[in-house]
Amino acid sequence: MLPGLLRLMEYLLGVPVGVASPEVATSAPMKGPIVAMSYSYLTHLECARCSRTYAADIVQNLCKCGNPLLARYDLPTLRTQLLKADVASRQPSLWRYHELLPVRSEQNVVSLGEGMTPLLPLARIGASMGLPKLLVKDEGLIPTGTFKARGASVGVSRAAELGVRNIAMPTNGNAGAAWATYAARAGLGSLIVMPQDAPAITQVECAVAGAELYLVRGLIGDAGQMVGQAVAAANGRYFDASTLKEPYRLEGKKTMGLELAEQLGWRCPDVILYPTGGGVGLIGIHKALKELQQMGWIRSELPRLVAVQASGCAPIVRAFEQGHHSAQPWPDARTAAFGITVPKALGDFLILDALYETKGTAVAVDDADLLAEQGQCARSEGVFMCPEGAATLAAARQLRRSGWLDENDEVIVLNTGTGLIYPETVPVAAPTLEVGDHLRVSEEPHRRSGRE
Ligand SMILES: Cc1ncc(COP(=O)(O)O)c(C=O)c1O
Ligand SMILES: [Zn+2]
Repeated sequence: MLPGLLRLMEYLLGVPVGVASPEVATSAPMKGPIVAMSYSYLTHLECARCSRTYAADIVQNLCKCGNPLLARYDLPTLRTQLLKADVASRQPSLWRYHELLPVRSEQNVVSLGEGMTPLLPLARIGASMGLPKLLVKDEGLIPTGTFKARGASVGVSRAAELGVRNIAMPTNGNAGAAWATYAARAGLGSLIVMPQDAPAITQVECAVAGAELYLVRGLIGDAGQMVGQAVAAANGRYFDASTLKEPYRLEGKKTMGLELAEQLGWRCPDVILYPTGGGVGLIGIHKALKELQQMGWIRSELPRLVAVQASGCAPIVRAFEQGHHSAQPWPDARTAAFGITVPKALGDFLILDALYETKGTAVAVDDADLLAEQGQCARSEGVFMCPEGAATLAAARQLRRSGWLDENDEVIVLNTGTGLIYPETVPVAAPTLEVGDHLRVSEEPHRRSGRE
């Protein structure tokens, strides 16, 4: 069948049609002559607060007004040129969505095989909370073990493409590990500052990747201040890659939303629960789904988005409950879900707007509950979540109990990383044997799964 006809049919039906075309540099539009397709359809940057626009092809940080810049794309043109079938024919990596990403040239992509993580049903744990249609998007299966690899792959690729030689950033650990790793892959230098309480393995990952690593007796905001001062004093030698202070980490995280939609056959679930610190993943998923709506690739309503926080650090939950559009700093923040210990997020207004716009909500869960879910999920499903991911299970259980979630809802929880990064969250009480000791096995096999 002619590509133009295929394109027209897919456009009208809203689903991929026919045989996937091979990935080539040119592709036919719906009408008219063959056109050269760009690798990226990025057009400009736009302030999320005041809408002032900025050129995208030079290094940029925040808007003059102090707020984050968002990448904008030529979606009307892309919608007439790209087929779902084109995307389906590509490698299972987040770069399959390259038209909706900011990197201009394929040669500049810095990749370690990130993306297209599994979407797994959680049948037993779902049944235990009255949610038969519970699924997890498992970001534990990605380089460096967390979804932070997405932001790092896209952010480092674009920074290098724009001529950056060294990146600097504060982190709660996982993002620093990912950015140090991808910076090494790109041949860039990295300066990483994290709280000394951040997961030990993330310090190891930074060190082994050759980052200049500092540990601070404080929280991520304290690390951020130090990075800001160091970057200012370094006369342009370092690029400040702090959360939402550059526009492209968000674009990498957005691919979680693109993948989810594709994995569901280009439609949305009813609800998505996301463990929220800086909120970049939630803002990114929201942005991705809106872009897909504008392209006509998803036609349903957006899912209700839920920001999940720990009760020891819940500034977004408090702001949501008060109906506010920005959050106050949370004093004395602490939780076992270390990645979401963010007392004040730069993008708080974007998180809250996404919750209000999608008729979502915000929920705080106790550490004891999220740790209990972590254990139950590993025992009954074989999925060892990080504590941040497990927080979304505790929140789902809470929301089902309160009636906010219905048993017919298709609910997706984001497990943002593997539990392997946080061995200290699971106590192990295994007897130690001497060589030659006899084992006394119990009559009933030692099984504590959710099957009983
Ligand atoms: C495992 C994990 N989950 C969730 C988050 C929160 O990320 P976001 O900035 O997207 O809210 C982090 C941030 O460090 C993290 O490490
Ligand atoms: Zn602005």
